[in-house]
Amino acid sequence: MVTASIGEAGARTRPATVVILDFGAQYSQLIARRVREANVYSEILPHDAPWSEIAKREPAAIVLTGGPESTLAPDALGIDPQVLVSGVPVLGICYGMQLIARDLGGELVRSQHREFGAATLEIVGKSPLTEGAPERSRAWMSHGDTVVAPPPSFQTIARTASGVVAAMGDERRRIFGVQFHPEVAHTEIGKRVIANFLHEIARIPASWQMESFVDATVAQIRERVGAGRVICALSGGVDSAVAATLVARAIGSQLTCIFVDTGLLRANEGDAVVAAFRDVLHLNVVRVDAQKRFLAQLTGVIDPEVKRIRIGHEFIAIFEEESRKFDGVQFLVQGTLYPDVIESKTPDSKAGHKIKSHHNVGGLPATMALELVEPLRSLFKDEVREVGRVLGLPPAIVERQPFPGPGLAVRVLGEVTAQRLEVVRAADKIVTDEIEAAALDPKPWQYFAVLTPLQSVGVMGDGRTYANLVAVRAITSEDGMTADWARLPHGLLERISTRIVNEVAGVNRVAFDITSKPPATVEWE
Ligand code: XMP
Repeated sequence: MVTASIGEAGARTRPATVVILDFGAQYSQLIARRVREANVYSEILPHDAPWSEIAKREPAAIVLTGGPESTLAPDALGIDPQVLVSGVPVLGICYGMQLIARDLGGELVRSQHREFGAATLEIVGKSPLTEGAPERSRAWMSHGDTVVAPPPSFQTIARTASGVVAAMGDERRRIFGVQFHPEVAHTEIGKRVIANFLHEIARIPASWQMESFVDATVAQIRERVGAGRVICALSGGVDSAVAATLVARAIGSQLTCIFVDTGLLRANEGDAVVAAFRDVLHLNVVRVDAQKRFLAQLTGVIDPEVKRIRIGHEFIAIFEEESRKFDGVQFLVQGTLYPDVIESKTPDSKAGHKIKSHHNVGGLPATMALELVEPLRSLFKDEVREVGRVLGLPPAIVERQPFPGPGLAVRVLGEVTAQRLEVVRAADKIVTDEIEAAALDPKPWQYFAVLTPLQSVGVMGDGRTYANLVAVRAITSEDGMTADWARLPHGLLERISTRIVNEVAGVNRVAFDITSKPPATVEWE
């Protein structure tokens, strides 16, 4: 999708691309991200993509991801056999390595016990894959089956302390496998292994830059939209701001931004968003007050997936209605990101387990009359921020913490009512104000309040109370895909708790969420 020279002989029409074949691993998107962090463009395709689809991308390397299944199962997921004879360098990770071992004549056994978590890696054979890595290091492993003997012509590069083959490779064919996860931060040599594979083994230069993405995307939007009219869904978040600015840069006043006030926003957010877009970014903004419509959709709804899907549909319905008010609108811009696309697993992959229907891809009604323009569909959050910086957006917008599309509806557990929204909004403002006033360094990545439907007994003054529990969530993360709970100072937690109980009617107890992702998710719904 990006036109850039890769500094190699021959005229490529696209940047050197790494194709990631996805077996449904929760970490597939992290692999794509790590590859891009090495300044190499990457795209994820389903594991069973036919060779013709893969070849269209002129892959400079192929990565096979992990996956939840066993390669020894009778109906185990596989790849087009052309992949392993194409001559394109291949790195198999976890399931990907087992598949290489299975298909090329190695020996595998089904383990009695699964190995999860940290393991010690020991390098036992010299290889360009681990060049520069220490002899012993910590790595993150999660797998059931074990390669006991690599295929003929492969050498064992690393083992774990328990003797498991942890890395193997055939240098001549440039096919490698690692049983550990190089993409997760806990694997000490992970970045080095990925960089070695990309730059040393596959010989891909580190040339993919955000400036080239911006130029190419602006040109593509111009070509696709022509003289057409476009409406843009503004949510207030960095994604829609960057998407709108990119489109505005391409087609200027042909773009009208529609800001739907769902009533599911945080304190003062609606006014601030409209002011920022009109006054700072000088975009055409129409504000639609739709609180009542969203509340009506949510009446009596408790199931989080139903909430998400209804909100997504209502959003699209409103855009459709608004678009009809303008003559000749053909296109709708959305700030959909790569993790939204992958984590929802709606498009092409059969292998993954669906976690949540992320709002932006909540399913378009069949009657949808607008074509979608999703200029950020291949980017991760921090890449979007980088694009925002390249476009010159102010820090208040670029650094804004993520906020889910369905808004406070997924932070009010149980039924969403106007009154319960008020409670979570008031508690959230206290959490936000106090954490920001504490000027923590580093600042948590995301922080908010959740209103639970749980009621508990308390005592205030001399009286008994029976009121709600509010949970405080504060996390550290790089991209929202994995997260840890932020170690907030006790004094700060105390101020937050005291203020919420004293200032927010209907709340008599505050809990602090100390769960990481995985196993929890960031949002409670
Ligand atoms: P989860 O809860 O899936 O959240 O661990 C990961 C990150 O994504 C945000 N989030 C969303 N963002 N639409 C979005 O654009 C959504 O539907 C949505 N749901 C969650 C969440 O706030 C966190 O940063």
